[in-house]
Amino acid sequence: MNEKPPIDQKSGQPKTFIEQRPPSQERDVERREPLEKPSTKESERATETKIAEIKQLLQEPFVQNNTMLPEPTAVRTNSSNLEVHNVHKFYSWFAKYYDLSRKIWNPFFPASVEKEFNGLLSKYIKDGAEILDVGVGTGINIERVLNDNIAFGSYEGIDVNPEMLTEARHKFDHIKNLTLRIGDITQMEFTKQYDSIISTLALSHLKEPDKAIQKLLTALKPGGKILYLDNFAVPKPRLRDKAALWVYRNLFHFSPIPTEMAEKFPVSEEEKHFPFLGGQLSIYVFQKNPGI
Ligand SMILES: C[S@@+](CC[C@H](N)C(=O)[O-])C[C@H]1O[C@@H](n2cnc3c(N)ncnc32)[C@H](O)[C@@H]1O
Repeated sequence: MNEKPPIDQKSGQPKTFIEQRPPSQERDVERREPLEKPSTKESERATETKIAEIKQLLQEPFVQNNTMLPEPTAVRTNSSNLEVHNVHKFYSWFAKYYDLSRKIWNPFFPASVEKEFNGLLSKYIKDGAEILDVGVGTGINIERVLNDNIAFGSYEGIDVNPEMLTEARHKFDHIKNLTLRIGDITQMEFTKQYDSIISTLALSHLKEPDKAIQKLLTALKPGGKILYLDNFAVPKPRLRDKAALWVYRNLFHFSPIPTEMAEKFPVSEEEKHFPFLGGQLSIYVFQKNPGI
């Protein structure tokens, strides 16, 4: 992207966004292997320091101006596992196993979800489109868009976790017009607008997913669409669902989203729901209405 960074009012210098950090720095983090195995305390301290550094980095560069965003309808209760640093810590070690784990859980995924979502990508993303993928992870959606032969104009993937981005870079670094950047959707502001925004299985990691959706709507060009797939809650989970919910929250740091959080946004297509352990997988196509 050739955008000019915003100017810092105090120093008069361009702001340094985290997302502009050169990829080499992320790779340095990846290569930092200890020569000797550190003691548990040392490694815990190192992890804490790394988390503190990342938290600092995530907070510094973005404009903290959320005045245009409405208050969330409902803040999720019991959500301490959904703190961004917990999610970040989890994906730092899980990144290497993410694609493998998908192969294991794919047979349990309703096949119609994949078919339906791919259909929407083909239907709504036009050749030449500027695409944003929020929580791009290891790049599953990049793969879907490429498999659909969509000749996008640009594809920008953001993710809070550098290790997930590293996995994506291994696979897609050679793709023209593709940018993979670090960014925390809860903190960042967008300086441009996109034709299509994709987000799959990422916003259920957030305490206030509706705030993120609202923010994404402001980053959409008029007529653009948000193609959204995520874990949603059902009103009366059964016992086995409750067990799954516990695992999701405590081990994987996500929690299915109450449907009322999504249903207040303008949709351009009837949403689809697919029963899945612990709740349901839901697909929404949000669109920008005048005034957003
Ligand atoms: C379950 S993975 C989904 C990855 C990919 N979209 C997919 O469907 O396979 C969730 C991703 O969301 C990212 N994520 C979680 N919280 C985030 C945040 N606050 N900002 C940006 N990305 C976030 C995680 O780092 C992770 O890569």
